[in-house]
Amino acid sequence: MTVVIVQICPVDGVGLSAGSEPSSRTWRPVTMLRRASLAVWGVLLFAAWNLLLLLFVLGRSPPADPEELARQVVKVAEEVEQELEAQKRLLQQVQAHRPAWLPAGPPPAPTPSAVLPVLVIGCDRPTIRRCLDKLLLHRPSKELFPVLVSQDCGHEETARVIASYGDQLTHLRQPDVAAPPVPPEHRKFAGYYRIARHYRWALNQLFRARRYEAAVVLEDDLEVAPDFFEYFLALLPVLRGDPSLWCASAWNDNGKAHRVEATGRAATALYRTDFFPGLGWMLLRSTWDELEPKWPAAFWDDWMRRPEQRRGRSCVRPEVSRTITFGRRGVSNGQFYDQHLRYIKLSDAFVPFSRHDLGYLHRERYDAEFGRRVYGAPAVRLDQLLGGGGETEPEPGPEVRLQYSSRDGFKALAKALGVMDDLKSGVPRTGYRGWSTFMYRGRAASFLAPPQDWSGYDPSWS
Ligand code: UD1
Ligand code: MN
Repeated sequence: MTVVIVQICPVDGVGLSAGSEPSSRTWRPVTMLRRASLAVWGVLLFAAWNLLLLLFVLGRSPPADPEELARQVVKVAEEVEQELEAQKRLLQQVQAHRPAWLPAGPPPAPTPSAVLPVLVIGCDRPTIRRCLDKLLLHRPSKELFPVLVSQDCGHEETARVIASYGDQLTHLRQPDVAAPPVPPEHRKFAGYYRIARHYRWALNQLFRARRYEAAVVLEDDLEVAPDFFEYFLALLPVLRGDPSLWCASAWNDNGKAHRVEATGRAATALYRTDFFPGLGWMLLRSTWDELEPKWPAAFWDDWMRRPEQRRGRSCVRPEVSRTITFGRRGVSNGQFYDQHLRYIKLSDAFVPFSRHDLGYLHRERYDAEFGRRVYGAPAVRLDQLLGGGGETEPEPGPEVRLQYSSRDGFKALAKALGVMDDLKSGVPRTGYRGWSTFMYRGRAASFLAPPQDWSGYDPSWS
C-alpha cells in the first residue's frame, strides 16, 4: 500500500520541477495552470487513498471477535495516519521547489552567455560621436548588447561627448594616464604604448571584472554597418564551436568598392582568414585569458599576427566590411589612410546572417570545399587577366587563379591588381592557407595562390 501511494506523488513532483525554466512571457498562465493541477492531484490522491482503504478493509474477512475487529480498525487508522504524514512531507518537498517554477519577481535577465558587450576604445577625439551614434542606432537590444566606452587620455571634451549618451552606455575611464615607459629608440611610437596599455586595462574590465564570456572590440574612429550586431550574433556560436578560429572581424582588408562583390548572394559570403584584421572584432574570454599574461607593451595588433600568438588559428571576415574607419588623423601615419583605408566600402544591406547556414566555415569543410574552388579555377597569367580594356570596362568572367611562389612574386601580382601587397609574419592580408581572395573586373572571385603543395607561411616574408 505504501508503495502504491508514494509513487503517485513523486510523479507529480517531477512533472512540476521539470518545467522549471520559466520563459519570460508565459510564466503567469503557466503558474495558474500549475496551481490548478496541484489541487486536482490533491483531490485525486485523497480519493485514491480512501478507495484503497475500502478495498483493504473489504478484502479482509471480518473477524468474528468484536475486540479483534476493534484492534484491526485501530491498526488501519494508525497506518492511515503514517501515510498521511508521508503525504504531507512529500507535498512539503514539492512546495520547497516552488521558487524554481513560480518566479516571485519579474522575468529573469538574459543569462551572461547570451550577452554580447561592445567595447569602444576612445581617447581624445570628440568625433567618437559618429561611432556611437551609428552603434546605438543599429543596436537591436540594450540588454543583449551593452555598450561600454573605455576612455584613455582623460580628454574632457571627449568625456563630455561620451557622458551625453546617459544610460545608453557605460563610460569607463582608464585610470593611468601618465607617460608609459618607452625605450628611447621608440620615443616616436609612444602612442602605440599607450594604446596597448589601454587595451589590456579595458579588456580586463570586460573579461575579469565583469566576467563577460565574449566581446566585440571597436575603436572610436570606426563606423558600423546596419547588420553589425546581427553579423557578430550569428558568428558567436561559430567561434565557440570551432577551436581553429580565434576571432571574427567586421573588416575586409581588400574591401574596396571595386574589389568586392557588393550585390547578390556572393555579397553575403563569409571567409576564413589567417590574417588578423582587427577593426571591429570579436573574441572569447578564453582567448583573453590566454593573451593577457603576455600582452605586449606596444604594437598589439602586429603582435597578435605573430605565429606564437596565432598558433595556426584563423578569423572569419565578410566579403563587404561591416565597419569603415574615418580616422584620418591618428597614431599611425595618415598616408596609409589616404592610399587605402578610406576606399573600403561599408555594407549597406542588412543580411540576416543568423538565419544562414554557416556550416561551410568549419575548418574541414572550408579547407576541402574552398581548396577545390581555388585549385579548380584555371591558372592564368597576369597579362591574360589584365588583357585589354582596363579598370573602367568590367567584363564578367569565371573565377581565376594566379600562382605565386615567392614574396616578390606575390607583391608584384597584388600591386598590379590593386589589392594589399603587405604581409605580416608571412601572411598576406585576407590570406588563408596562402590564398588571397578578391573580385577583379566583375569576376566571381580571383585567387592569388601558392602552388598546391604549399607547406606553410614563411615568417620572413614581410
Ligand atoms: C592602428 C590601428 C589600430 C590599432 C593601433 C595599435 C588601423 C586602421 N588602426 O591605430 O587598430 O589599435 O594601430 O597598434 O589599422 N587610443 C588610446 N590611447 C591613446 C591613443 C589612442 O586609447 O593614447 C585609442 C584610440 O582612441 C583608438 C585606438 O587607440 O581607439 C587607435 O588609435 P588611432 O589614433 O586611431 O590609431 P591608428 O593609427 O588607427
Ligand atoms: Mn584609427
